[in-house]
Amino acid sequence: MAKRPLADLVTIARRARRNAHAPYSRFRVGAAVLADGEVHAGANVENASYGLTLCAERVAVGAAVASGARRLAAVAVASGTDEPTPPCGACLQTLAEFGGADLPVVLAGKGGRRVETTLGELLPRAFSKRFL
Ligand code: THU
Repeated sequence: MAKRPLADLVTIARRARRNAHAPYSRFRVGAAVLADGEVHAGANVENASYGLTLCAERVAVGAAVASGARRLAAVAVASGTDEPTPPCGACLQTLAEFGGADLPVVLAGKGGRRVETTLGELLPRAFSKRFL
């Protein structure tokens, strides 16, 4: 994946982060996924019934799937922390449903802080349909 598309994905994730509904944790997260050349954004959506909270990554994957995509090409996650935050375990498993170990994942924190990694690095030995 070229540098430029990943940078664009981060910009879209950062923009989506502004729309996060996070009145309880105040921890805003934005995500963007590239699939079939289209970018789909997500933000975390919290609920007064805390356990119903949706993470930004799963909202973005849901948007991609709802528009017909099944194969992710890249993912960006934007949070406001000094150390860029990785997707939670549930989101990693959801990403693994639609992306392989080589799926590029870029984590963006405060300012220009970036970590470029892969799904395989974040979720080694993922459970998948091959075990079913
Ligand atoms: N959150 C995400 O949106 N993505 C993650 O991968 C980790 C956590 C959200 C959920 C909740 O609204 C807030 O961050 C604090 O956990």
